[in-house]
Amino acid sequence: MTDIIKPISMSHTYISDIAAHAGEDVELRGWLYNLRSSGKLKFILLRDGTGIIQCVLSKKEVSDAVWEAAETLTRETSLILRGKVNKDERAPGGFELWLNDLQIVGVAEDYPITPKEHGDAFLLDHRHLWIRSRRQHAILRVRHHLIRAIRDFFDERGFTLIDAPIFTPAASEGTSTLFETDYFGEKAYLSQSGQLYMEPGCAAFGKVYCFGPTFRAEKSKTRKHLTEFWMVEPEVAFMDLEGLIDLSEDFTCFIVQEALDRCQVELATLERDLAPLEKIHKPFPRLQYNEAVKLLKNKEFNITYGDDFGAPHEEAIVQDYDCPVVVHRFPAAIKAFYMKADPQDHSLSLSMDMLAPEGYGEIIGGSQREDDLATLEAKIREHNLPPGAFDWYLDMRRYGTFPHSGFGLGLERTIAWICGIRHIRETIPFPRLKHRLKP
Ligand code: 4AD
Ligand code: MG
Repeated sequence: MTDIIKPISMSHTYISDIAAHAGEDVELRGWLYNLRSSGKLKFILLRDGTGIIQCVLSKKEVSDAVWEAAETLTRETSLILRGKVNKDERAPGGFELWLNDLQIVGVAEDYPITPKEHGDAFLLDHRHLWIRSRRQHAILRVRHHLIRAIRDFFDERGFTLIDAPIFTPAASEGTSTLFETDYFGEKAYLSQSGQLYMEPGCAAFGKVYCFGPTFRAEKSKTRKHLTEFWMVEPEVAFMDLEGLIDLSEDFTCFIVQEALDRCQVELATLERDLAPLEKIHKPFPRLQYNEAVKLLKNKEFNITYGDDFGAPHEEAIVQDYDCPVVVHRFPAAIKAFYMKADPQDHSLSLSMDMLAPEGYGEIIGGSQREDDLATLEAKIREHNLPPGAFDWYLDMRRYGTFPHSGFGLGLERTIAWICGIRHIRETIPFPRLKHRLKP
């Protein structure tokens, strides 16, 4: 802190509200984003988290002390600026601030992130600072809006939010990606999915969802996998697979439209081509798994019936469509134990995946659930899961069992698609990857 600081008053204006103050004197507080000097004028770009504004300092309008302070300014130094708001069509954002006072709050010396290109590792090491940059800021604002849109969708349709626990006694999505932890001498695992808790939830509340962090010890490094990611998981009593696919379509259309309506500035900053998003309308193409395999074979893929899809397969399946593609009825052998078998063909599961357009891959996975006690017990044995861990879960089948379905949407993959960015690591404030636990 420097000695030119005066006591900080209580009220100041945010850049996002500047239009309401045209012609008025205001005080802004923020950080120096960029500085350009031209003789006796300085053009300060100030960012305060709500926006960026150009502030003009003229040597003849301010005291020598203020001008001298301005001569020392460096990027990311925190500032208090006072001046008059001037509406000017040519200014970025349509307004600028004509300064009559400037105070330095905290000097930033040698800010590590410069306008030159940095490598990925360097930026990730400096993630705590990187989030100040315009592009990262835009992505995380889209994230904020999507989280709100997701909640709005379910809240407006009578769903109850039921929070699932993070410490869990067993795997729901396969034992290979479990993070194990010591729970007072007992083994516990970080939750891979809240689903097993939404199932009792929907027996109590009818329509429920959870929305929180989930954890998977993903060993492979890909641009679509995090070890900690957020998932929203609705579960609906008395809904079958077809109803679930309809719900997933309505939901996807809703959040895309919300992003288009509310994130115009951010998507423009990211230079996202909006045309592909504007084409998202239901009904989405629906392919049964075997049809998807046929489509891949026609595209010369070396795939056998029964194989799971990898990223190149997912990209090829959506290639000829504008909308997300729903693939349903995967072979039961490649899906989780809790999925109900198709009554028409017991080798198939009543499952669905939604694949995002433009090659963004699987964003939703869901199914109708197995609702018969004996079948479910057999499935747990077949999958070599510890039977004791699921006692409580089987109670849903003992006390008034009922058909129901649910899905999980991965938030970060959805943000990557909507923002049009390649790697999922930029879609979460502090990404957790196989080799990254810091910052
Ligand atoms: O397909 P998944 O594994 O489904 C489930 O976990 C179900 N229990 C959900 C349910 O029915 N309630 O995961 C759902 C979604 C995927 O489609 C993907 O978008 C995302 O979660 N996902 C990941 N996102 C980022 N990093 C990872 N490692 C992910 N694994 C899954
Ligand atoms: Mg899946």
